[in-house]
Amino acid sequence: MPRDYVEDELSRRSVFKSEHYLSIDYVPENLPHRESELRALAQNFKTLITSPGRTSQKFIIEGPVGTGKTAVAKRFAEQIVQAAQRRDIRFHKLHINCRVNKSAYLVYLKILRQFKPKFPRRGHSPEELLQIIVEILETEDRYLLLILDELDYFIKQKGGDILYNLTRLMDDQLNAQQRLSMIGVGRHIPLDSNLFDHSTLSTLQRNIIRFEKYTASELNDILAERNKMAFVERAVMPETLQLVCEIASERGDARYAIELLWRAGKQADSLESSVIIPDYVRKAKADTHPEIRKEVLESLPRHNQLLLLAAARKLKEGQSAYVTIGEVEEMYRSVCEEYNSESRAHTQVWEWVQDLNAHGVIDTKRSGVGQRGQTTLLGLSDIPADLLEQYLLGILDRGRL
Ligand SMILES: Nc1ncnc2c1ncn2[C@@H]1O[C@H](COP(=O)(O)OP(=O)(O)OP(=O)(O)O)[C@@H](O)[C@H]1O
Ligand SMILES: [Mg+2]
Repeated sequence: MPRDYVEDELSRRSVFKSEHYLSIDYVPENLPHRESELRALAQNFKTLITSPGRTSQKFIIEGPVGTGKTAVAKRFAEQIVQAAQRRDIRFHKLHINCRVNKSAYLVYLKILRQFKPKFPRRGHSPEELLQIIVEILETEDRYLLLILDELDYFIKQKGGDILYNLTRLMDDQLNAQQRLSMIGVGRHIPLDSNLFDHSTLSTLQRNIIRFEKYTASELNDILAERNKMAFVERAVMPETLQLVCEIASERGDARYAIELLWRAGKQADSLESSVIIPDYVRKAKADTHPEIRKEVLESLPRHNQLLLLAAARKLKEGQSAYVTIGEVEEMYRSVCEEYNSESRAHTQVWEWVQDLNAHGVIDTKRSGVGQRGQTTLLGLSDIPADLLEQYLLGILDRGRL
């Protein structure tokens, strides 16, 4: 009998029952240790349901990586929409990732398309888009809760005007109903006075919810639920879970904890073991680099990836903490040749450097006077250069196949 590889694979035993519960996009129903944050949001947003149109709300959720900011904002939005539905209020939610929708125009377009999916991409100014949004909300009697995620990145790039414009949306009209509320989410939203007008600033400063890092025992509760949903019973040893929590508690990062557990499971499957022993976690730890934000690197335009590869190589080569932008550009040109890509001019490269800086991938600073003249120096935030190089090669070579 010839070997049937598909049937082989299908009949293979796995420690996973439903792997998707460990995926990035899954938002669990229950969010242990974020009950008080969810309750605080509910208390503050309650009036949107009890007296629709009377007021609007603006909140900020802030905290370190993997502390559940996005998960809480999404879960909360879901619940408020359901409560509104039960009361026949046309209340909508929209989650916008500001790293992907990089300009006010794109954010507005995304809002508009929630209501008019075929709205054309071009032909209107941002102000016109806003005006159309107002009209739709008004004439169709709708309300919207906007979640502006990764807002810190956006503000660093474009300043705080977007918040001003969005929050002032309804104020121009006499006795207008308040139809738009907002939750801004980010690691740290720079609330300083030169970025915001006075009244937006004072509202936001009063409405900040800060998320703290998770402790090992909190991570344990979070993982215990995932364990039940994602793995076959008894596949994960209690010691294994404990080790994952200990490792991840240094960063207080639930995403890292989940990734470690998932990789340890993969390890068990590849060794055809029916239990996940602690040693698989140690192995998983060596292969996981939480400091590399894969979603960020993967979402970068190809030319930015090439530039970043050049910076990583130059830094590796020089074994120094910083290299000059000139040195990186030189390397960038040879990287472009290697990847059959035409290199871009200095002004464009300069813009990308600013962009990568705002993403938190690279660090820039001005060199001191006299030290190689006045120029911009580039370094890497917290990723070792050779790791970054390897990772980028993975992404770029995949694109080349
Ligand atoms: N309290 C919790 N209960 C269950 N799962 C959680 C909890 N907190 C976070 N998670 C899970 O951990 C992962 C990371 O959470 P989330 O994406 O919300 O973090 P974040 O604070 O938005 O991080 P970042 O700053 O990187 O955007 C997600 O898979 C999320 O579902
Ligand atoms: Mg997030």
